[in-house]
Amino acid sequence: MSKILRALRKGFREILRYNPIKKYVPVPVLEGELLKDRVALITGGTSGIGYAIAYSFIKNGACVIITGRSQSKIDEAIKNLKKENANAEIYGFELDNNKVSKMSESFNRIVNEIDKKKIDILVNNAGIINKTSFWNASEEDFDSVINTNLKGTYFLTKIVAKYMVDNKIEGNILNVSSSSSVRPAITSYQLAKWGIRAFTKGLAKELCSKGIVVNSIAPGPTATDMLLDGDDNINRPSSPIGRYATPEEIASLSVILVSNLAKMIDGDTLMATGGCGNLTYDDWD
Ligand SMILES: NC(=O)c1ccc[n+]([C@@H]2O[C@H](COP(=O)([O-])OP(=O)(O)OC[C@H]3O[C@@H](n4cnc5c(N)ncnc54)[C@H](OP(=O)(O)O)[C@@H]3O)[C@@H](O)[C@H]2O)c1
Repeated sequence: MSKILRALRKGFREILRYNPIKKYVPVPVLEGELLKDRVALITGGTSGIGYAIAYSFIKNGACVIITGRSQSKIDEAIKNLKKENANAEIYGFELDNNKVSKMSESFNRIVNEIDKKKIDILVNNAGIINKTSFWNASEEDFDSVINTNLKGTYFLTKIVAKYMVDNKIEGNILNVSSSSSVRPAITSYQLAKWGIRAFTKGLAKELCSKGIVVNSIAPGPTATDMLLDGDDNINRPSSPIGRYATPEEIASLSVILVSNLAKMIDGDTLMATGGCGNLTYDDWD
């Protein structure tokens, strides 16, 4: 029923704005050597923004390690990444952001299996959404969003930051926040993303003297399964820019943020929202 209502609402918006339906068109991917010899651990790299970040990092010379909750999805993602990047070094491991007690063991396994490479980039991308209203939120909904998006990120970062500090690795940590990180926070998702933005600042201060640069990127509504569920229409009349971001746009900006081009940016959140959240905050639907 809610699917029908959503479709009707979307249809009315299109008519009101006299907007032709734009189909999903990938933007060009930034390519070069910005991340040559770098090794990046990307959580939630099996689809959407995480997958696009893995793809863009590879196109800029990095070795990538993706994580997710299911080995079959990881294998599928690696197969697809390899199709266009046959010589790229790509690894994939199960690592569930909800299972904090198993994180050390999983991370040690990754370090042991990547052939003595030094991980010098962590991208905390894994996340889920739940749009249940304040009035209908259950403890279970709240915990699953906070645990995946915030608690899991916090504890995995602790493990990876310690590894970087112990090995004197002057690397980068990039957290994927959201336009929700500046909206009035009333859902667990918005609260989690405020937390990520705040954690970015605190962590940057903690790690600055160790040569580790910490930033966050805040995508606005982006054309991934999280919001579009396979739909390829990127129109979004409620966004100031009128459309969804593409994962490739977010990924190209991420390349820059973890590269040496951005060394002077620290503790910051780059709003890549097409205006959502920073020009308007009532575009959450
Ligand atoms: N799409 C948007 O509009 C938007 C806007 C702003 C911010 N973001 C943020 O961008 C990030 C990526 O989202 P997306 O849009 O790319 O969604 P997506 O396509 O659904 O991808 C989510 C990724 O997170 C992984 N994941 C989910 N739960 C996990 C867990 N417990 N442990 C490890 N991995 C887990 C998924 O892997 P498996 O399913 O294989 O486990 C998948 O790779 C999220 O942090 C999201 O909040 C998205």
